[in-house]
Amino acid sequence: MAAAVSETVQRFTAETLKAASKQSKGCYVVPLRLRRAIKNYIRDQEDQHMKRNVSRLSESFNAIKDANLQLTASTARELIEDPLKYVGCSQRWKIKSNYGDIGLKYRDDQTIAYVASRMPAVFSACHRVLTEVKRRLPNFEPTRVLDFGAGTGSAFWALREVWPNVTKSVNLIEPSQSMQRAGLSLIKDLKNLPDIQSYGSIQSLSQNLKNRKDGKKNRKHNLVIASYVLGEIPSFKDRITIVRQLWDLTEDVLVLMEPGTPHGSDIISQARSHILWMEKRRSRKLAKSSNQGSKDIMTEKCGAHIVAPCPHDGVCPLDNSGKYCHFVQRLQRTTSQLAYKQSNGIPLRGFEDEKFSYVVFRRGPRPSEAWPLDGMKFDTLKEQRDKMNPEDFESDYDDQIDSEPEDIFDDKKMIKYESDINEPYFTSESDAEEETSQETTRADLGSGWGRIIFSPIKRGKRVEMDVCRATNNEGTEGCFERVIVTKSKNPTLHHQARRSLWGDLWPF
Ligand SMILES: C[S@@+](CC[C@H](N)C(=O)[O-])C[C@H]1O[C@@H](n2cnc3c(N)ncnc32)[C@H](O)[C@@H]1O
Repeated sequence: MAAAVSETVQRFTAETLKAASKQSKGCYVVPLRLRRAIKNYIRDQEDQHMKRNVSRLSESFNAIKDANLQLTASTARELIEDPLKYVGCSQRWKIKSNYGDIGLKYRDDQTIAYVASRMPAVFSACHRVLTEVKRRLPNFEPTRVLDFGAGTGSAFWALREVWPNVTKSVNLIEPSQSMQRAGLSLIKDLKNLPDIQSYGSIQSLSQNLKNRKDGKKNRKHNLVIASYVLGEIPSFKDRITIVRQLWDLTEDVLVLMEPGTPHGSDIISQARSHILWMEKRRSRKLAKSSNQGSKDIMTEKCGAHIVAPCPHDGVCPLDNSGKYCHFVQRLQRTTSQLAYKQSNGIPLRGFEDEKFSYVVFRRGPRPSEAWPLDGMKFDTLKEQRDKMNPEDFESDYDDQIDSEPEDIFDDKKMIKYESDINEPYFTSESDAEEETSQETTRADLGSGWGRIIFSPIKRGKRVEMDVCRATNNEGTEGCFERVIVTKSKNPTLHHQARRSLWGDLWPF
């Protein structure tokens, strides 16, 4: 499968292009240490009603989804002010603060149910997103981290898996005492923990930092993450305030994640537009200002760009399209998930698909890079065949067999679930190996890398993909289009397209 690469610009070969584009992961296996920690934690709780608790927690998440659906269909002021009002009437537990209701409360029974049923899936989604951050920003090291709405620490666990022994300090913001206790209990056997401080709110973190000598320095975290929490904050206004506060506490990278639902995707999209708008306005103001007093601010990185999933910083092309931006991570169900999820008598599948929406911001302007296909030349199938030696025909035949329709999300091909004690065949170590082999080639942050935003349609010698892409070199504008790749026109890219999955990058 040889691509003729220009002699002058040799940024990629067919193989390195493929490796750099890959961001999706196959079926993820939650690491043994986390599965063990969850198992031990649940055992220590001696809760007789786990199945019922898990089912109630799941019902309450569904009730929030329903309330949010009402919200999209309604313009009623009271619903916009507080979409959880209706849920509140039916037993959802709000956190009261000086500012009113600011989120949902997790008591012990909900916390235990969360650890057993949701944490493995949320952890897997966090792991997927942070792995991409590591690949796209190879020189970035999250030394000072803030985890907002940390819950039982799914993001913290993912952080340690992706960057082992790098993080020096972690500030956790978590209003639920029960979640805080569970999080601490889960990490009690881990070694080389960073300095961890827990706070109940952003205000108490800020207050504490104000009172400390090194407060100013410690106010800035080079990684801030908020996973699956913004959707629990009732009003749009409060959510945006929190997003602004989180951005203010971010020195370098901010990661926001939500469930992959229309509402979750909306929240991400609103946060995206707001931060980009704020930073554009700030850059304009600073550029205009000749005042030397603003020098201090000028030393801070000005502007913001999106590291992932968006290949551009323009208006989201999916806004008002009736589609919503989300991705999926498949994971092998852990024993706790298998034990406590309701299955109505039907055996549960060994895996589940966690859908999530996310955005990763970085301070500073988007780096300007050549587009990945610039300088590459591709033969058509006919040209490729004309150049072949007789012995190459055999590998061409292999390639044809290899390119029969395939779908990694095919049930029959799934790795069978094994117990938590026997480490399954598909380990996170093998993931790590795969990552090391890909480390040398990575997709840069230039605007030439589009994103495959739904499952590609693969039919014989033709692949159709929905791709979100930049429409200019600066990445200030973008669009969403269907890309069709055929084997006859470009066998190299067709080969890559056949192996591409939802969430992978697509080069232009
Ligand atoms: C669905 S859990 C997600 C927990 C964790 N981030 C994860 O990814 O597993 C939502 C968490 O957000 C917390 N939360 C809700 N409202 C909050 C608020 N206003 N400020 C901070 N945390 C909040 C809840 O206590 C809960 O622990």
